[in-house]
Amino acid sequence: MKKLLSILLAVLMVFALVGCGKKDDNSGNGGSTSSDTVKIGVAIYQFDDNFMTLYRQNIQKYFDDLNAKGGTQYELTIVDGANDVATQTEQVNTFISQGVDAMIVNLVQTSSPALAKAVEDSGIPTVFINREIADYQYGPKTCYVGADARDSGTYQGQIIYDQPNHGDLNGDGVVKYIMIMGDPENSDAKFRTEYSIKYLTDNNVAVECLYQETGMWDQAKGQELVASALNSFGDDIEVVFCNNDGMALGAAQSISAAGRKVGEDIYLVGVDALTECCEMVKAGTMTGTVLNDDMGQATAACESVLKLLAGEEITQKVNYVPYVMVTTANADQYIK
Ligand code: BGC
Repeated sequence: MKKLLSILLAVLMVFALVGCGKKDDNSGNGGSTSSDTVKIGVAIYQFDDNFMTLYRQNIQKYFDDLNAKGGTQYELTIVDGANDVATQTEQVNTFISQGVDAMIVNLVQTSSPALAKAVEDSGIPTVFINREIADYQYGPKTCYVGADARDSGTYQGQIIYDQPNHGDLNGDGVVKYIMIMGDPENSDAKFRTEYSIKYLTDNNVAVECLYQETGMWDQAKGQELVASALNSFGDDIEVVFCNNDGMALGAAQSISAAGRKVGEDIYLVGVDALTECCEMVKAGTMTGTVLNDDMGQATAACESVLKLLAGEEITQKVNYVPYVMVTTANADQYIK
């Protein structure tokens, strides 16, 4: 009886083992085994950001599509840095100690290269995205994908210059504007602030800044700041420049709450070409925006990860995806 029981047990164990094996084989498409699974850690500076939400969804979709084709499977762990340096440092260090195969990192802080250095030292192939570290020497296994923020600022300036009176709605010879900035430590915020105005002054338009504050890329903050500026400067404000569309959405709410009308007595520009904003541009409730190509940048970032994983050398360390000026003429094209 004892012997029979142990034979039965042994048979059961064999079945159990075969069962486990089967499960493993089916875990990835195309019958991949766990050794075919590539682990990628994705660190986003903050989930609660309109543009970076689209961006991270595109990254996820890129690898989902690749996984669906079978073969090597990519397992993403996407974490929210909550715009906090300490939180993000811990998250990236965890990826490093877990030995992920590759990383995509959207830094909270670019003014200090400390975390980037830790990434370099780990030797893990990593693509930095969206926030460029100034004057940084990327190592053999790292690179950057973003966009040249100077261009987005230039396009904003051009959108205003292309309006009747070049933005000088009241015809007093000076374009009076307010500037709602993103996080001032980001190059995107710095360059958009500088180059939007530079385009006007380069074209001999006199300007006066009535108000400049940081809305930290955030819609609610944008709304608050513009409400307060409208309260202080009222009809003197002819142009509202916002470093991104999130803040421009907030600005639009305050503009209409103050009884002002975009295109008639005030102009409003943003950057990103969020669908909502393109619809507003089409409807005339926003003057223009600039396509910040979240899909193009996410695709370039994922392709760079694959190249680095394959051991290919990336010679162009800084990869800029072009911006596109968006006005009533082409807004339709960017409504998703
Ligand atoms: C985008 C902003 C976004 C920021 C995050 C910028 O390129 O235009 O909308 O908040 O990146 O770093």
